[in-house]
Amino acid sequence: MDPTQNVVLEASAGTGKTRVLVDRYVNLLRAGVDPRNILAMTFTRKAAAEMRERIVRALREAAERTPEDAARWRQLRDRLNEIAISTIDAFCLTLLREFPLEADVDPAFDVADETEVPRLVEESLDQALRSCRALAREREEIALLFAQLGEARLRAGLAALLERRVVASAVLRRVTTAGPRDLTLVQACRRGRERIAGALEALPGGLDAFLGDGPVHHPRYQVLASDIRRLVRPASGEDAAAPDASALKGAIDRLRAYFFTKAGTPRKRAPNEYPAGFHADRRRARATGPSRSARRRRSTTPSCRSGAT
Ligand SMILES: Nc1ncnc2c1ncn2[C@@H]1O[C@H](COP(=O)(O)OP(=O)(O)OP(=O)(O)O)[C@@H](O)[C@H]1O
Ligand SMILES: [Mg+2]
Repeated sequence: MDPTQNVVLEASAGTGKTRVLVDRYVNLLRAGVDPRNILAMTFTRKAAAEMRERIVRALREAAERTPEDAARWRQLRDRLNEIAISTIDAFCLTLLREFPLEADVDPAFDVADETEVPRLVEESLDQALRSCRALAREREEIALLFAQLGEARLRAGLAALLERRVVASAVLRRVTTAGPRDLTLVQACRRGRERIAGALEALPGGLDAFLGDGPVHHPRYQVLASDIRRLVRPASGEDAAAPDASALKGAIDRLRAYFFTKAGTPRKRAPNEYPAGFHADRRRARATGPSRSARRRRSTTPSCRSGAT
């Protein structure tokens, strides 16, 4: 057990791992190393106490065998407290207490009680979101994140990252460098608008047939329809190239509320605020939702589809 050689020891339970550590520790003392300069760490306080006890016992037993060991035992026995086996937490705590400035922590820091941790996490999340909201006023990529995820999901995401903080920054870096580098607010709006427009234009019969099939006499639907028309066919070329972000967000929210439930699943019937009587004709009025009417439109022939022909 030459202590100048590094050893990684992996072995099953009860095969002598602690014994090897104890031997190496004792051999370091024999080589003249001061116990204050030996770091021995283990996971639990129980294991640390066991290891310390075994080291002391080994030293005492050796003292009975050779005069050198007996002399060493006499030197050490009044300062056995210097043989310190730490748990990992205790060792880290000592390090931080000794070098708070280097570690960038408050020198008067304390270790949080487990019951305090949830409250501290909530406080940090509040604080982080407050800072992010302030930043979002100046930095559009952060505003975009709020718009895309919403505050509740952003908070849940931050909480998950905090939970995995040891690995989170490396993973985040990998994900963010893999993402599109050039995604600005203008581009995100343009792409979003194009994709929605593409989907709506591709509906059987096109956009007008689709919109004409809804509760067209309802004022709220009229707002939605005009939103959608503007979204799909912007008035000016400029608007198409760079849609106004908040107007677009409003339109998308209304569109989403029409097609999807709050939980995000596709609606089986029109939202409750659109009673059937607001449809263009009575036959259509019985069709209750966007998805059902869309299905019906796909399954009928053009000649019998519209009451107007
Ligand atoms: N080379 C050895 N010769 C004789 N007995 C040994 C030897 N190595 C270990 N032992 C004995 O085997 C038992 C288990 O050893 P030890 O505690 O070092 O194992 P361990 O691998 O640390 O176990 P655990 O996985 O439970 O921590 C102890 O009673 C120890 O005295
Ligand atoms: Mg052991």
